[in-house]
Amino acid sequence: MRILSGIQPSGKLHIGNYFGMMLPALELAQKGEAFYFIADYHALTSITDPNELRANSQDVALDFLACGLDPSKTVFYRQSDVPQVTELTWILANVTPVPMLENAHSYKDKIAQGLKPNAGLFTYPVLMSADILIVQGEKVPVGKDQKQHVEMTRDIAGVFNRQFGEVFTIPDAVIKPEVATLPGIDGRKMSKSYGNIVEIFGDEKTARKKIMSIVTDSQAVEAPKVDLDKNVPLQMYKLVATPEKVAELQGKLAAGGYGYGEAKKELFAVLMDYFAPMRKKREELAKNLDYVNEVLRKGADRANAVASQTMTKVRKAVGLR
Ligand code: ADP
Ligand code: TRP
Repeated sequence: MRILSGIQPSGKLHIGNYFGMMLPALELAQKGEAFYFIADYHALTSITDPNELRANSQDVALDFLACGLDPSKTVFYRQSDVPQVTELTWILANVTPVPMLENAHSYKDKIAQGLKPNAGLFTYPVLMSADILIVQGEKVPVGKDQKQHVEMTRDIAGVFNRQFGEVFTIPDAVIKPEVATLPGIDGRKMSKSYGNIVEIFGDEKTARKKIMSIVTDSQAVEAPKVDLDKNVPLQMYKLVATPEKVAELQGKLAAGGYGYGEAKKELFAVLMDYFAPMRKKREELAKNLDYVNEVLRKGADRANAVASQTMTKVRKAVGLR
């Protein structure tokens, strides 16, 4: 089974990225041949400062490796080291209906936020389709917000295959229902663009402040607290604490006399413990950037080999030399 996913180097990674995409991707990588990459071409749709893009790309590489990506089992690379994806993007653009792109949620959201769209942003899903199809990805672990993009990839691959012959494998999104959308500290989806994130590798003091400011309902400390399906601290706690600890916390909240402030302190402590080994590993990796660059270089070689095979088929199918 071939697995593929990517993450944009468009800012600091947060625990929504980790539980929604990275952890499921790392788990799935145990079950097949995984290709994970840093989507730096995609990040050009939002980042205009070259130094920022370079720094973010390196950060994502360190983050993913620190979180447990095993480069001896997973092909890990920078998207821009596989420039064939841009050639495939062009070819796929010719079987992509414009109304489909106009209907993309993420595109519509960005326009609604007041962003002036360029053609890169508009054709973003075509580039993403090329990422997936160029390695013939079968499973694509992502958060829920990327589901529509994978569906578009299925449609684009289907049109191509009907028009030019069966070249592409049709991929499936893999979405973990319990963390499909992790809320941020304001209760909306946790997202870099909303400023409501808890970083994985940020400093402790800021993380503490963020956790303590998570919005909750305003029940008094004394009140017994049940029906906490929408309670953000508890949702986060369930991701990092053992089932026994979760049951214990729920018991304390239900008994009354235990406020959300206490629950948040407990969440902060467990969250820090959970990420401590990864934070330590990241510090070590940051001292050894030659190793990180070598991992990405080797990943690029392996991804290039697969991409070239696909492109030979694609070029032949459409009538290019
Ligand atoms: P952001 O919304 O912060 O810009 P990205 O769009 O770069 O995050 O997302 C990178 C990956 O992390 C995607 O697979 C996305 O679905 C996943 N992801 C992002 N935010 C969340 C969240 N709050 N809950 C679950 N998964 C998320
Ligand atoms: N669009 C994805 C995001 O913002 C990143 C991405 C680019 C991706 N290409 C991909 C994810 C291919 C999965 C497969 O998170």
